[in-house]
Amino acid sequence: MMTLSETLELVRPNIMRLKPYSSARNEFTGGNAILLDANENPYNLWNDDLTVNRYPDPLQREAKLKIAKIKGISPEQIFLGNGSDEAVDLLIRCFCEPLTDSIAIFSPTYGIYSVCADVNNVQVKEFILNNDFSINLQQFFNGISPSTKVVFICSPNNPTGNAQPIGTIEQILSKFRGIVVVDEAYIDFCPEKTSLSLLNRYPNLVVLQTFSKAWAMAGARIGIAFANPKIIATLNKVKFPYNIGVPSLSVLSRAIEQYSNTKSLISQIVSERELLRLRLQQLSCVKMVYPSDSNFLLVKTTDANSVYNYLLNNGIVVRNRTHEPLCNNCLRITVGKPYENSKLIQILNTYRP
Ligand SMILES: Cc1ncc(COP(=O)(O)O)c(C=O)c1O
Repeated sequence: MMTLSETLELVRPNIMRLKPYSSARNEFTGGNAILLDANENPYNLWNDDLTVNRYPDPLQREAKLKIAKIKGISPEQIFLGNGSDEAVDLLIRCFCEPLTDSIAIFSPTYGIYSVCADVNNVQVKEFILNNDFSINLQQFFNGISPSTKVVFICSPNNPTGNAQPIGTIEQILSKFRGIVVVDEAYIDFCPEKTSLSLLNRYPNLVVLQTFSKAWAMAGARIGIAFANPKIIATLNKVKFPYNIGVPSLSVLSRAIEQYSNTKSLISQIVSERELLRLRLQQLSCVKMVYPSDSNFLLVKTTDANSVYNYLLNNGIVVRNRTHEPLCNNCLRITVGKPYENSKLIQILNTYRP
């Protein structure tokens, strides 16, 4: 288990030393000031309800207060990014020295971790999940090195759909001498499986969540990193000053006000997922449907390329994962609206090999 000071020693020295860009708006909290500091246009032309002529709050303070309230977390433990993808990139840039350090991932998993590592010239240590999509801890601890600075655990995992047990995550947290990132993009579909409650015990834990999935705001581009305030301060230092726009923050505010509606929509999607699973399992082109804690199903078909193209020719786009490890002949299918799911089943019923 790492202490806070050991965790902070993992930050790259140049980032530790970095003096961040500072805007006058960083210090400004009051209302009705005459704003002549940022070379903006003083006229609000395009939308009466949104002051898009002004730069947004660089630290998104109002949004963080609201998120803190619904998550039971302090605002200082919250970073907001232009999607959680921004947090992935920043974590790699803050903790991994290019050409020297590595990250660890458990494949098959979300592709952005290795893309961001590649962009930053950081090596990727890839560990293949067990056949039941659980993490092989022994293989992980044997395969990492002192230069492995960040491990990404996607839970629930994309594309396999399963959440990792909290016990597994804690075993990694207690022994790994680096940053443990748990990507919970799909956690709203299985909220009881979150690692957020571990945050106060492990200074090297970062939990990523997003408003892109269950919250129906993929187009707004808002992701969250929850972590120790010192890690959050480090991410804030490196991010671009105005990383989330005024319209996105306004939609977020509305969405949080209507949190209870979102929760009932989430349970509808979960019920629809189970209905879709039953209907898929009856199809002759489906060999098995894996259990899911998320809003998609990983489906093993008789021939993924052929089924994929058939669906595409019939105007239905799914994700072909057949070339991913452990996913031979698998398609990843998002749970849609009831009529979309019915159409999918109807088309698949007419598929002939
Ligand atoms: C596991 C996982 N993490 C993160 C993301 C991206 O989230 P965001 O839209 O917040 O960048 C996705 C999107 O597909 C995902 O599957």
